Amino acid sequence: MSDKNQRSNPLSAGLDSGGSFNRFETGSQRKPTADTSRGSLFDELLEGEPIFDDKDVLRPAYTPSTLPHREAKINEMASILASALRSETPSNILIYGKTGTGKTASSKYVSEELERASDRYELPCHVEYVNCEVIDTQYRVFAKLANTFIDNNLNAIDAQIELLTEQVRSLRAGDGPEELTMDNLPELLDRIQALEADQENFERVPMTGWPTDRVYEAFFDAVDYQECVVIIMLDEIDKLVEKSGDDTLYNLSRINSDLVRSRVSIMGISNDLRFTDTLDPRVRSSLGEEEIVFPPYDANQLRDILEHRAEVAFKSNSLTEEVIPLCAAYAAQEHGDARRALDLLRTAGELCERDQSDRVEVTHVKRAQEKLELDRIIEVVRTLPHQSKLVLYATILLDKYTDSNSKTGEVYDVYRQLCEELGSDCLTQRRVTSLISELDMLGIINAVVVSKGRYGRTKEISISKHRDETEAVLSSDSRFAELGDVQPYIQARFD
Ligand SMILES: Nc1ncnc2c1ncn2[C@@H]1O[C@H](COP(=O)(O)OP(=O)(O)O)[C@@H](O)[C@H]1O
Ligand SMILES: [Mg+2]
Repeated sequence: MSDKNQRSNPLSAGLDSGGSFNRFETGSQRKPTADTSRGSLFDELLEGEPIFDDKDVLRPAYTPSTLPHREAKINEMASILASALRSETPSNILIYGKTGTGKTASSKYVSEELERASDRYELPCHVEYVNCEVIDTQYRVFAKLANTFIDNNLNAIDAQIELLTEQVRSLRAGDGPEELTMDNLPELLDRIQALEADQENFERVPMTGWPTDRVYEAFFDAVDYQECVVIIMLDEIDKLVEKSGDDTLYNLSRINSDLVRSRVSIMGISNDLRFTDTLDPRVRSSLGEEEIVFPPYDANQLRDILEHRAEVAFKSNSLTEEVIPLCAAYAAQEHGDARRALDLLRTAGELCERDQSDRVEVTHVKRAQEKLELDRIIEVVRTLPHQSKLVLYATILLDKYTDSNSKTGEVYDVYRQLCEELGSDCLTQRRVTSLISELDMLGIINAVVVSKGRYGRTKEISISKHRDETEAVLSSDSRFAELGDVQPYIQARFD
């Protein structure tokens, strides 16, 4: 048997007596499997008191039952939507605010309350949530809406047919029900037949393939089939407009003039305060009948939010006193983002768990902040356009091979060198300077303007502290694979 064979068989590896590296125990030393004294890989990880009661409470998918510091905004929305409960059409609403300011959570909360009230008052009212980050074309928005209302209608028809059939059955049996939906048997039978025909007519919209007009018509017919006030919540509406223009909104904003039974109003939610600039003026004025702005949370508000959640998420006494205030302070710097605050708290808890400590401490929060920042940088770098990646790579190479901070001109020289090696188009120095500013704004590099006296001004550029991780992300881009180990050629400069 050759060496090669022996090595490729893990079972024979333990018999290798050559004294070479061998991580398998020999047969005689191997402990019996029933011996419980040997810990499993996971025992150590599961040791110690768990600090979490319910970690999911800190995840974005969880909908909290109370939203501290959003009562005023929630009331504002509710007072606009209340007209739905008087069978009137609520004004369209546009909600603005940076990410993590509670727009989605508050809107979902209000819609659930509205639907509950509509059940209680028996006023048909329906809120349909559409996440336009995922459903981002006119076809898909109308297809989703059409199919939802088609399904609702089919269910309602089924229930109605069942009710009428029961009435027919008892009429025929002579023990007629007290109240009939129709006056007599033939009318009942006609009605059932009509409903069955409607059932046949509803056809679900396929994911692709129909002309958009037909999809819109399917939606229109389905919405108008039974009387209802419909609120369409378009979350991340700016993404829809960015991807596929404002046709969807144009069509939706005009739909009420053609509907007979139902009414539609739109609730648009956007992270981008300027997204309406690109809209057709008619769409803009219709959509923005009411505008609600969600301001960022300050550190105190974030603290309240975290405390509410932490109570459910963690076992009591699992957090040292400074943990929540520190998470709140970090997230307040990050434009008052509650999502970031919750992510920090959850990550700090996970790091504590991994350390097998029984209380989350300040160091865990600091490490969590580092980790989230690194995750963010990796994500941003991964999705940069090719030219920005080249500029960033040039900055990294300079940082690796020179001692001082680089100047714009030096970055440009190395950038040109990279373009040549890769056969990429080479931008002007002016364009590269503006890409450097963008990278600075994204927090991936630092660019500081320094005065060079009578030689004018230049920028000194340094890379953020996660240089090696950033480089690793760039190197994983297949277009950079050919580069190998480039040594930047740096001209001596006297500026
Ligand atoms: N006032 C609040 N109280 C409790 N949790 C909140 C509050 N505001 C936001 N959150 C939570 O913060 C996260 C981000 O909120 P979200 O509504 O998704 O923000 P947005 O839609 O503005 O980006 C969610 O997990 C949400 O539950
Ligand atoms: Mg949101």
